Amino acid sequence: MPVIRSTPSAAAGDQGPSPVTALRDLSLASAAPAALRAAVRIGVADALGDTPVPVGDLAAALKVDAAVLLRLLRNLRCYGVFDETADGIVHTATSRLLREDDPQRLKYWVQWVTEPWVWELWPDLEAAVRDGRGHFEDRYGEEFFAHLHSRWQESTEIFNKSQTELSRLTSAAIAESLDLSEVKTFADVGGGRGFTLAELLEANPHLHGTLVDLPAAVAHPDPRLRPGGALAGRSSVVAGDCLREIPVEADVYQFKSILEWDDERTVTALRNARRAGRPGSRVLVITNLVDDSPEIRYATGIDLLFLLNTNGRRHTREGVAGLVDRAGLRLEGIAPVGRLLHVVETSVPE
Ligand SMILES: C[S@@+](CC[C@H](N)C(=O)[O-])C[C@H]1O[C@@H](n2cnc3c(N)ncnc32)[C@H](O)[C@@H]1O
Repeated sequence: MPVIRSTPSAAAGDQGPSPVTALRDLSLASAAPAALRAAVRIGVADALGDTPVPVGDLAAALKVDAAVLLRLLRNLRCYGVFDETADGIVHTATSRLLREDDPQRLKYWVQWVTEPWVWELWPDLEAAVRDGRGHFEDRYGEEFFAHLHSRWQESTEIFNKSQTELSRLTSAAIAESLDLSEVKTFADVGGGRGFTLAELLEANPHLHGTLVDLPAAVAHPDPRLRPGGALAGRSSVVAGDCLREIPVEADVYQFKSILEWDDERTVTALRNARRAGRPGSRVLVITNLVDDSPEIRYATGIDLLFLLNTNGRRHTREGVAGLVDRAGLRLEGIAPVGRLLHVVETSVPE
């Protein structure tokens, strides 16, 4: 005789997740980036092509345990990363972004935001909220980028590749939104390996560009900017610390996704650009504003990570305007660039 009764609560479930379900899911959401990172490092996305692959074959090709791989993929599938059909595991539009050869690749960015030191830092959030500041320097004894470059070489490499991935997604929109027809010299300060600068130079054949970044970042610039590269004749690559001095005079200075550390350093870097430029030089801050972003989970999440690594922040419109003012620059305007970024245009006063 069956003992299972059909009850109303068992049938309820078509009204969206209950608060209990939502909170349980959220509390365990860290399983997903952990699974994502494992999948990237094992190489699942690159091993999977356009046709379904039985999980046993996939595991054999990757030399991993098939049963555990299936458990990993089951979790990722909840977020639309990989799928399973009767014929095996298949890519989704999202999992394809983890492939090395995808034009919109985010493989290294995924690794960057799930690096082991990131997991170490998250518990510091409680202390940061209590004290109003991040504790990276207390924990590691030096400033974030200095520590990254000197101690975490593999992480530095992943970081530089991740920044190029992000730049690839945004550089066309930046090139489209900046009218550089009257500009002769352009400096990208904290420009990483120079992907965005190279794209701007390609879009503006009259322009000369200088890449300024810390020595570890400019050691391996974009191939187009290297001696013998297609843009070598119109570009310079300079190792420099913008908190000390910006060693180049230019018509336009760009700070893209760099002035997101503490306010004192942001003001110092902007003042140094004011000093390096001439009256009328433009100083552009290209950034993801936290109070004006269509992807608010991404913006607020990065805002908290910045708090813990550089003691920094994602800016609000009002916040960035205040910092520009403190640096003695004149705010000329703020405009959206593509889906995620804004350009804050300022000028060096007469
Ligand atoms: C988030 S990345 C952005 C890179 C690039 N602008 C982009 O959007 O792809 C920040 C960059 O600032 C550089 N940076 C950090 N501190 C710096 C300093 N004091 N002077 C110059 N560059 C610095 C880092 O090396 C890194 O390349």
